[in-house]
Amino acid sequence: MTAPRDPSLTDEAAPAAVRTEGLAKRFGTVTALRDINLRVGHGEVLGLIGDNGAGKSTLVKILTGFHQPDEGRVLLNGEPVELRSVQHARSLGIETVFQDLALVNTLPVYMNLHLNKEPRIGPFLDKRRMRAQARRYLDDIGISIPSVNAEVANLSGGQRQAIAVARSVYSDAKILLLDEPLAAMGAKEGGIILDLVRMLRERGDVSIIMIVHNYAQVFDVCDRVNLLQHGEITLDKRTEDTSVEELLDLVATEYRTGGKFAAGRGQYLSEVRGDGTPGSAA
Ligand SMILES: Nc1ncnc2c1ncn2[C@@H]1O[C@H](COP(=O)(O)OP(=O)(O)OP(=O)(O)O)[C@@H](O)[C@H]1O
Ligand SMILES: [Mg+2]
Repeated sequence: MTAPRDPSLTDEAAPAAVRTEGLAKRFGTVTALRDINLRVGHGEVLGLIGDNGAGKSTLVKILTGFHQPDEGRVLLNGEPVELRSVQHARSLGIETVFQDLALVNTLPVYMNLHLNKEPRIGPFLDKRRMRAQARRYLDDIGISIPSVNAEVANLSGGQRQAIAVARSVYSDAKILLLDEPLAAMGAKEGGIILDLVRMLRERGDVSIIMIVHNYAQVFDVCDRVNLLQHGEITLDKRTEDTSVEELLDLVATEYRTGGKFAAGRGQYLSEVRGDGTPGSAA
């Protein structure tokens, strides 16, 4: 007997905040994505996992208007949209924290926090307000930066990532895309970001897609998880219906059977398990 189709995967009840139909993306001879059918409900947190080169960032870059798909389409609230640029996507309420960060290194923290949305008095930037708001944002979140006047170039990788996340959180985004927001973070800052995602999830007015490498963190903050393997979604489940073991098993099976992307998997498995035993799940 086939399982009844999950009604939350269709637009029958309410249209998804974001849905994709048959997205494909190629770079020359490399097929980065094929037939991607993804869905994120309103207020839902989707965890996107998969090993290096699986296509996670490419997918996020399509949803943020940075790349255009070769095939397929994106729907927002059930309406097909052509995302022409990152700016265009932002104007539709899609905010992104890229893996390769999008801060301006030569500008101070407070300006980065207001980039392209600067408060003004007439034609002039309202710098006093920008500084005060920046300080409040960072204090609220609990991120310690020596001064909002510091140039971003002089901050640590973790502090920079924290600023990028803070900016997107305070942007009134309807859809928030986070590409490995915890990558450059120490335990404390990483915990702060996870707390932020949890807070947004409870508020329920923003849909989040978050690329995460550590499976425990997926189960910590995500409602649903999608596993991407060499450009295809091979698992789409609610986190309560799956487990770290099942996810590791799927990845390990591919590793064991020596798929053409298997090289380096041992390293990958040890990273996501965080136990330094490459491939021992196999
Ligand atoms: N701009 C580009 N030009 C050419 N090839 C690209 C480009 N961007 C990505 N690719 C290729 O597409 C594939 C998917 O890359 P992508 O960055 O989406 O992977 P990822 O899942 O985000 O990996 P990671 O976990 O390492 O960040 C890889 O083979 C990569 O080399
Ligand atoms: Mg990536």
